[in-house]
Amino acid sequence: MTELEGARERRVRTGGIELCVAELGDPGRPTVVLVHGYPDSKEVWSEVAARLAERFHVVLYDVRGHGRSTAPRPLRGGFTLEKLTDDFQAVIDAVSPDRPVHVVGHDWGSVQSWEFVTVRRTEGRIASFTSMSGPSLDHFGHWIDGRLKRPTPRRVGQLLGQGAKSWYVYLLHTPVLPELAWRGPLGKRWPDILRRLEKVPGGDYPTSSLPRDAAHGAWLYRDNVRARLRRPRTDAYAHAPVQLITPLGDTFLSERLYDELEQWVPRLTRRTLPARHWIPRTRPDQLAAWITEFVRSVEDGGPETVKPTGKYADRFGGQLVLVTGAGSGIGRATAFAFAEAGARVVAVDRDDEAAARTAELSRLIGAPEAWAETVDVSAEQAMEKLADKVAAEYGVVDVLVNNAGIGLGGSFLDTTPQDWKEVLDVNLWGVIHGCRLFGKQMAERGQGGHIVNIASAVAYQPSRALPAYSTSKAAVLMLSECLRAELAGRGIGVSAICPGFVNTNITSTARFAGVDAEEEKRRQKRTARLYGLRNYPPEKVADAILKAVVRNQAVVPVTPEARGARLMSRFAPRALRAIARLEPPL
Ligand SMILES: NC(=O)c1ccc[n+]([C@@H]2O[C@H](COP(=O)([O-])OP(=O)(O)OC[C@H]3O[C@@H](n4cnc5c(N)ncnc54)[C@H](O)[C@@H]3O)[C@@H](O)[C@H]2O)c1
Repeated sequence: MTELEGARERRVRTGGIELCVAELGDPGRPTVVLVHGYPDSKEVWSEVAARLAERFHVVLYDVRGHGRSTAPRPLRGGFTLEKLTDDFQAVIDAVSPDRPVHVVGHDWGSVQSWEFVTVRRTEGRIASFTSMSGPSLDHFGHWIDGRLKRPTPRRVGQLLGQGAKSWYVYLLHTPVLPELAWRGPLGKRWPDILRRLEKVPGGDYPTSSLPRDAAHGAWLYRDNVRARLRRPRTDAYAHAPVQLITPLGDTFLSERLYDELEQWVPRLTRRTLPARHWIPRTRPDQLAAWITEFVRSVEDGGPETVKPTGKYADRFGGQLVLVTGAGSGIGRATAFAFAEAGARVVAVDRDDEAAARTAELSRLIGAPEAWAETVDVSAEQAMEKLADKVAAEYGVVDVLVNNAGIGLGGSFLDTTPQDWKEVLDVNLWGVIHGCRLFGKQMAERGQGGHIVNIASAVAYQPSRALPAYSTSKAAVLMLSECLRAELAGRGIGVSAICPGFVNTNITSTARFAGVDAEEEKRRQKRTARLYGLRNYPPEKVADAILKAVVRNQAVVPVTPEARGARLMSRFAPRALRAIARLEPPL
């Protein structure tokens, strides 16, 4: 029985062993070969393979000695990179004799695929390579060498950092010990360890062959690591374009390992994601999307590297980002910043023309796709419909930015219940609806994500001028903190952004309680002038938002006055209260 639903199986004989090969999808389409790592079998790819099979001919095989492939005899010397390359060649000759294939490798699958893509005998047979969590041993050898020869403090730090992460490699070089551990408690508890430490979902993952596979796989290390690191090849240049996907929370590999990769790979696309080591199991949607995009760009003969220009393109390229209040100011600048990073953008605003314009410009700036949706964020049912539509037509949102908000000035005693309702409906309920509906989809998908809520510096700075607005923002700040605690275990980050005075349209649309229409206009003009003089651009807030997602920051004051007030609220709250009393009402 196979764990890969609908897969066609065949056996490929090579060098005295038999490899178990599975195929999915139409063989007439471009072939994508998925190579698994240690201590896995081809089933580690089952989620990714199912997604890719809709568009490609997907091929997976159990590496020699693993799963249902046979093991070489004797084991020692049976797992060299040369022999693994023989196996790969035999597989691709069987499944795609006439067309080059796209290789994807994870962990040891990636280590061996680096060999495939840098040795001459496979030239012309590999169209592209997507690497995850497994460096080339040659590049790694040179990386170590370079640091030993020119040991600046930073480079020594990098060396020690990776050295500490490699503890298991030393263990695997010891005789017998790994075999005993895998046949004993480690083998039994492995699925549980993956679930708890790596957040790998449980389920139908086959474990019966694990102790044997893991004992065989120890020879991958013993047969190759020491020898290659000591004498790395000097001509290990990649002859196909490479996409490098780096999970930033990898327990086993430092991201610094890839700092100088361009010197070996002329055609390199970099991607990063906030996840741990076992991304084929924990982030299949994102991997399938990136592999699809990369394979397609190579097949179409377009530029062989996918290179959006934005600062954070490696992280947000191809991700789905939804921004509310995207028709103006901070929301529009944020939509543009994500578009520049190559994200797919959903621009939501109650102003349909403004939302449409943001979507149109986002496409021009670099978003591969952008859509406009007209919704009032305070309307519960409209938000529910939006969430259903987005999930059905565009997918599960990777980053949600709850930005839509309105201003309301005037003293507390002048603020009517209706005024309160209006501002809380948009500024607080709008955020609650967004978090509840899109946060639920993210949590149910179980592949992480990020929620950004736009609060304000007035969330922690009291004032006589903005009691209702400040209350709504303080609530957004606390909501974000609570939600962050709740969703942390699911790999979903939550950030609250707290800007000071930003030059946007909010001043000309803000309402003022307790004054007539003419006075309201006058105050709007005056605040607009003041904000204009301050002239802090919304683009800088957008940049802080992207950075907050990349760094998973909890609370981010933006603008110097917001940072100053944050410090005072913690260390000199009495002074902040005194300022609030002295400050004239707007
Ligand atoms: N501008 C500032 O100084 C400043 C400071 C701190 C926080 N903020 C916050 O930043 C966010 C964005 O404000 P901005 O300055 O860019 O304002 P803006 O007025 O320029 O943009 C707000 C956008 O939100 C939309 N919007 C308003 N209510 C909506 C609703 N109910 N449903 C859907 N869309 C709605 C508007 O149509 C507009 O396009 C707000 O939450 C605001 O409170 C602004």
